[in-house]
Order: sequence, then structure tokens, then C-alpha cells
Amino acid sequence: MDELLRAMNGPTSTVLGYSLDGDLIATAMVGHDGHRGWVYYLAVAPDRQESGLGRLMMEACEQWLIERGAVKVQLMIRSDNSPVIGFYDQLGYELSDVQVRAKWLKAGDHAHTGSAAL
Ligand SMILES: CC(C)(COP(=O)(O)OP(=O)(O)OC[C@H]1O[C@@H](n2cnc3c(N)ncnc32)[C@H](O)[C@@H]1OP(=O)(O)O)[C@@H](O)C(=O)NCCC(=O)NCCS
Repeated sequence: MDELLRAMNGPTSTVLGYSLDGDLIATAMVGHDGHRGWVYYLAVAPDRQESGLGRLMMEACEQWLIERGAVKVQLMIRSDNSPVIGFYDQLGYELSDVQVRAKWLKAGDHAHTGSAAL
């Protein structure tokens, strides 16, 4: 929750949502680090998947970044989330030959945010 609030309140990031009849059915976090755009936590409600909402949310993220001058967008996919690879292929996202490394900056952050945070 802290991460979502920080992204929503920050000047270079936001959280986009799609609601229908008062229900939030798709979300994505998008941000710009001054060099590239990043998308995190794209999700469509299970019973609403495969109806174009994932593509719509990614297009909204891309448009948000274009309006802020970004020329490239990146995202990370967990190694155990292979089912989603076909989706990004379909949207034109190419595989980058990079290794992502991460380090927690404050003791306890790992426990605080949980290891699921990318
Ligand atoms: C990934 C996710 C957001 C896709 O959302 P969605 O609404 O089902 O996707 P869409 O209906 O917009 O699909 C867009 C296109 O990708 C294709 N596609 C969707 N999922 C696919 C898959 N797993 N493999 C191959 N193609 C896929 C669709 O057929 C569609 O093709 P088309 O536009 O040419 O007809 C959704 O499955 C999800 O929320 N997954 C769980 C959370 C998750 O893993 N998020 C990604 C974290 S990196």
C-alpha cells in the first residue's frame, strides 16, 4: 500500500486504474526515472481478462509516458510468470539482454514490503 501511495503522490509516477460499475477491474503503476519509463504491477481482474483490458492499460501507460517525454518503456517479468510472456510479445515488447540486480537500501524493507515487490 505504501508503494502505491508513494507512486500516486510522486511527481514522476502514478497508478492508473480502470473501473466499471464502481468496481476497479484493472490497474497499473507507471513512472519515469528521467531516462526511461517503467511499468509495474499491471493486473486485470481474473474474470475480465482476455477482453482487451491489459492492452488498454498498457496503451494508457505508454501514453502517460509519451506525454512526459519518455522514448522507451521497460518492465520486469518474474521468472516464474512465464504465462504472461505471450501477452507482452503480442504488444511488441522485446526481450532485453540484461540482468536485473537489486539491493534493499534499508534494513527491514524486505520484510516490510514483502519479497513480492519488484
Ligand atoms: C497479463 C494480463 C494483464 C493480460 O491482460 P488481458 O486483459 O487478459 O490481456 P488482453 O485481453 O488485453 O490481451 C492483449 C493481447 O494479448 C494476447 N494475450 C493475452 N494474454 C496472453 C498470453 N498469456 N499469451 C499469449 N497472448 C496473450 C491476447 O490474445 C490479445 O491479443 P490481440 O490483441 O491480438 O487479440 C492479465 O493476464 C493479468 O492480469 N495477469 C495476472 C497479473 C500479471 O501477471 N501481470 C503482469 C505482471 S509482469
